Amino acid sequence: MTATEGEVRRRADRLRAEIRRHDHLYHVESRPEISDGAYDKLFRELRAIEEAFPHLQTPDSPTQRVGADPLSELPVVRHVATMLSLDSSEAAEDARRFDERVRKAVEGPVEYLAEPKLDGSSLELVYVDGVLDRAVTRGNGREGEGVTENARTIPSVPLRLRLAEHPATLDPSNGGPSASADALPTPSLLAVRGEVLMYLSSFEELNRTRVEAGLEPYANPRNAAAGALRQLDSRITRTRPLEFFAYDILHVEWRDDSRLGGDADAALDTNTGAAFETDEQAAGALQGWGLRLPDRTRKVADIEEAIAYHAEFARDRDDLDYEIDGVVLKLNALAPRDALGSTSHHPRWAFAFKFAPRQEVTRLERITVQVGRTGKLTPLALLRPVEVGGVTVSRASLHNREELERRDVRAGDLVRIQRAGDVIPQVVERVEEPGRTRGEPFRMPEECPRCGASVVEEGPFVVCSNRLGCPAQLERGIEHFVSRGGLDIEGLGSETVALLVGEGLVRQPADLFDLTPADLLELEGFAETRSRKLVEAIQRAKKTELARFIYGLGIPEVGATVARVLAAEFRDLAILREAAPERLEEVEGIGPIMSEKITRFFNDDARAASVDAILSKGFELIPPPEQESRALDGRSFVFTGRLDSITRSEAKRRVESLGGRVVSSVSTATGYLVRGGKPGSKAKKAEELGVPVLDEQAFLRLLEE
Ligand code: IVH
Repeated sequence: MTATEGEVRRRADRLRAEIRRHDHLYHVESRPEISDGAYDKLFRELRAIEEAFPHLQTPDSPTQRVGADPLSELPVVRHVATMLSLDSSEAAEDARRFDERVRKAVEGPVEYLAEPKLDGSSLELVYVDGVLDRAVTRGNGREGEGVTENARTIPSVPLRLRLAEHPATLDPSNGGPSASADALPTPSLLAVRGEVLMYLSSFEELNRTRVEAGLEPYANPRNAAAGALRQLDSRITRTRPLEFFAYDILHVEWRDDSRLGGDADAALDTNTGAAFETDEQAAGALQGWGLRLPDRTRKVADIEEAIAYHAEFARDRDDLDYEIDGVVLKLNALAPRDALGSTSHHPRWAFAFKFAPRQEVTRLERITVQVGRTGKLTPLALLRPVEVGGVTVSRASLHNREELERRDVRAGDLVRIQRAGDVIPQVVERVEEPGRTRGEPFRMPEECPRCGASVVEEGPFVVCSNRLGCPAQLERGIEHFVSRGGLDIEGLGSETVALLVGEGLVRQPADLFDLTPADLLELEGFAETRSRKLVEAIQRAKKTELARFIYGLGIPEVGATVARVLAAEFRDLAILREAAPERLEEVEGIGPIMSEKITRFFNDDARAASVDAILSKGFELIPPPEQESRALDGRSFVFTGRLDSITRSEAKRRVESLGGRVVSSVSTATGYLVRGGKPGSKAKKAEELGVPVLDEQAFLRLLEE
C-alpha cells in the first residue's frame, strides 16, 4: 500500500520538526540526544521525500543549508534598524564615567547585563513570521551586504524560530529556557543582532589544511570568519566552521499581542523596550526562540561588579576557544534606554570595556630555524621582548618558508605581532619604515640545522629527512610523549630531555625506561634525590591510560580528543595498530585524512620498531571505563507548571544524576511529561502525542525507585 500525499506531507513535517530539534540540541545547547547515525537516518529520509515530492520542500527545511548557486555580487540591503557601534575604552575609569552618566539619567538602582565582546563579524538576522528571511552584514550601519544564503549554512543560525517558552529569567547555564510556562508568541518581524566567529581550534585546523593544500593561511579567526561570511559562493561558506551568537534584539513586532493590549489584526510596531522590561528578558526570549547567546552572560548589580567581571574574563581569556576583545556592559532596564538615546555612533546605554590589545609592534632581531617533532623546519622570529596583552613575548612563529617569503620579513625589520589564546605568537606583518636600509632576505637552510641531514620539500614545508635519527626530532618527540597530555612525567622538562639526548643516554624514547639513578647522577644539576625521584616517576608512568599513551605517540593530527576517541573505540593498542583505514573512518570524528595519517604512522617500520621497543619495557595501558548504565539512561523529561516539594533545578539535577535529560519541548521522543500545578500548553501537547504524564508524586516515586 502506498502512502497518500497527506501522509507523506505529515511525515515530512514531523521529520523537519524532529531534525530542527536535534540541530538545536547539538549546535546551540551542545547536548545531543541521538547519535550521528540516527540523525543521518532522519535527514536522509527527509531528503528522499523532498526529492521525490519537490513541492513538499519548504525554504526553512533543515535540508536547505547546503548553499546555493554563486552570486556575481552581494546585494546591498537596508537594516531594519541602524546597527550602531559601541563606545569603548580599556580604562576602568572610563567604565566608571559611563556608569555615572547612566545613573544621572536613570532613577533608582542601575543594573547591567555583562557579556563577552566577541571578536568576530557583526550580522543582522531578520525573521519574518518566524522564518529566516535575510541576513545582512553590518556595512555602514544603515545598510550592509545581503549574505542570506551564506548565513543559512551556519548550523547555529536557526532557519525558523522555535515556538518558544518565554523564560522569566536567563538560565545561568545557557542550557535553554527555564521556568515559566508562559508561552511567547512568534513575532511577525524580528531583527536580531549577533556575531559570526570561528572557534580558535577550528581556525587552526582550517589554516593547517590550507597550508597543506598550498594556500595562504588566514591572519586571524576574525578575518577568516568575515571572509567566509562574505563569500559569493555559499557552498564555500558551508565548508567553513562558522558559529553565530546572538546578543541584541534590534527590533521586534507582534501581530497579535495581548501583553501589549494590541489589536488582534494590526501589526504592532514596537521597539524592544515595549515588549520586554529588561535586556535579560529579551535575551531569555532569544534563547527561547532557539538562538545561542554568548557564554557567561551575567547580570551585575553595579559598575564595580562589572569591573570585577572584566578582570575575571581577562584572566580566563586564554582558556577560551574563541577570541574576545573585552566585555560589553548594557543597561538592563529597557525603558530608560530611550531617554539616554544615542549619538550618531553609539548608544549611551552600552559600553565596551576592552582588554589590552593583543597586537604590538617590536623589532625582529634575528630569524632562527626550529626543527619540530615531525621534522618540519619552522622559521622563528627572535624579537626584542615586548608585552602583549599581559604576557612578555620574545619569539614568534613565521609559519613556513612560503609564508616567510610572502611576508618578506628580515632581520632588523619592525614587525607587528599578535597573540591569540594559548597558541604561540605570530608575526602578522612588517611595518614599513621608509628610508631605512633593510637586511638581506632570509633563506631557509639546505640542511637540517640540528643534524646536518639534507632537507626535503613537502608542499610549503621544508622537512629534515633524518627523522628519528635527528636529535631535534627525538627531543621534541620525547617532550610530547611525557607531556601533560601524554605520560605526564613530572621532572622531565625540555632541558632535561635535551641533556639526556645530548649525553647519549637516550637514543630512542624506549631508553627512558632503562635509566637508573646512577645514570642521572652524571648529569648537571642532578643530585641523589632528584635522580631517584625522576626514575621513580618514569617507572610509575608505565601504568597509564591508553588514551594518554596514544596521544603521546605524536601521531600527526591526533590530539588529546581524538586519542580519547580512539582509546574508547579500540580499547587495545594492538587492535588500533592493525586497524584498516576503512575501520578507522567508521569512528565518529575521523575522516579520510586522519585515518590515512594514523595508518601511515603505524605502518612505518621505524615508528613501529620504536613503539615495540617502548612496549617491551612492560607497559600497562588502561582503557577508559565502560559506561555503566543508569536507571534513567536515555530518557528525557519535560516539566510544566509548578512543583511544590522540589525546585526545578533540583529536579533537573536528580534526573541527570540518574542518566536522564531535561528538555524544554514535548515531542514524540519525550520520555515523560512532569505536570505540576497550573500546567502550560505542554501538558496538552503531551496528551496529544501520547507521552506518559506524571504528576509530582509519581515523578518523585520514579526517582526513588
Ligand atoms: S551589543 C549597539 N554585545 O562589537 C549595541 N556587541 O565594537 C549593540 N560585539 O559592532 C551591540 N560582542 O558587533 C554587543 N556581546 C556583544 C558584542 C558586541 C561583539 C560587537 C558589535 C559591535 C562591535 C562594537
